[in-house]
Amino acid sequence: MKSSANQNLKPLTTRINDNGNLEISGCDLVELAEKFSTPLYVLDENTLRTICRDYKEAFSSYPNTRLLFASKSLCTMATSRILAQEGFGFDIVSDGEMYTVHKAGVDMKTVLFNGSNKGIDELNLALELGVGRISADNFLELSLLNELAGKAGKTVDILLRITPGIECHTHEYIQTGHLDSKFGFDLTQIDNAIELVIDEYKNLNIKGLHAHIGSQIFETKVYKDEVDILVSELVRINKKFGLNLNELNLGGGLGVKYTNVDYPPSTYEIAEIIIDALNENIQKYGIEPPVIYLEPGRSIVCTSGVTLYTLGSSKQVPHGTKYIAVDGGMADNPRPAMYQAEYFAQVANKPDAEPVQNVTIAGRFCESGDILIKNIKLPYTEEGDILCVYNTGAYNYSMASNYNRVAKPAMVLVNNGTADIIIERETLDDIIRNDKIPQRLGE
Ligand SMILES: Cc1ncc(COP(=O)(O)O)c(C=O)c1O
Repeated sequence: MKSSANQNLKPLTTRINDNGNLEISGCDLVELAEKFSTPLYVLDENTLRTICRDYKEAFSSYPNTRLLFASKSLCTMATSRILAQEGFGFDIVSDGEMYTVHKAGVDMKTVLFNGSNKGIDELNLALELGVGRISADNFLELSLLNELAGKAGKTVDILLRITPGIECHTHEYIQTGHLDSKFGFDLTQIDNAIELVIDEYKNLNIKGLHAHIGSQIFETKVYKDEVDILVSELVRINKKFGLNLNELNLGGGLGVKYTNVDYPPSTYEIAEIIIDALNENIQKYGIEPPVIYLEPGRSIVCTSGVTLYTLGSSKQVPHGTKYIAVDGGMADNPRPAMYQAEYFAQVANKPDAEPVQNVTIAGRFCESGDILIKNIKLPYTEEGDILCVYNTGAYNYSMASNYNRVAKPAMVLVNNGTADIIIERETLDDIIRNDKIPQRLGE
């Protein structure tokens, strides 16, 4: 089976250059750190476009595939432009993501608005900008959306977000009749939702069903189970209500290789499982091939991204851990502190040096949980060395905060020796931009 870029530990263009430094797409990482300062998010355009093409090729044998990018994993105007150029639509979950893709020039008909508690202003913006589909999550939203669409004189195409009774915990999954999940309609509630749309909500037009079963998924069979459940629901609903729904959104979830012990499947492996399951179901039920949507995030953008940090102080606890501090941490990458996510790193200015010490990379933020990498083998390091942490393209910048009032890092896009800023580094004035001191507190 063909491999794909999400199975790589590093961006595809990573190599050691003539200066003895790490480079990505012809850009020396030590020079990038000097020029743009650290922490610095670096994104490799080549790897990003390659994985988009892997997805397209993998699903090319199924005629009705629509690929959406889950913007929650990384939402910037430049990356949205690249993804749109590669033929992707967008799964967005907020007005901020909607506005970003709109301003990037994305065709809003290719956008699906998803999310578990969408606000009135957000739904109105979606109506105004003409997003292609809204994934309705709950009963309140159905009635609200119907009312807002009526006021706007529009009919809205919707998918119903359902919880199909499958839940993945990275490498394992469980299947149950129903799930205790905050997202979507339980299988037992769908008929009620459909009756309401048919009988009362005349401004809504149901096109199909939407599910998402988890993230950082390594298991392939889970996608077959998902297809089986969704197609059988679609067929059952069409029969019971005399409808002709033919759209299924299977969500995202394909995993990536954060460390050497991660073995995610390729896009080609999951495509084969999904397409085989679809074809089996099409035959079994004698139906027209449904339109399928996929909305991967992490597997599209994670491998393309690295974060550069400058090493600072270090501390050897007597008979204990050696900590080396970096100039970033949980505010630019909250994943290790939130859910013990693991990362791999190398020293960008000595990638060839023998790893001789076991160290723990500590963040600069005031939380003892702010540890970026526990127990990694590195060469001897000095203050000022540049650390390159791999696989930070997804859910790093998009989850970043200003904890401790530290400014968010810049992001550069690298391509064949060129590095362009796509997110400016925040300044101290950005940090206080929204602060106000009431007059009564004095000058
Ligand atoms: C509804 C939905 N779709 C797609 C995604 C993207 O998942 P991933 O980044 O794992 O591909 C998520 C992530 O949580 C999601 O909730």
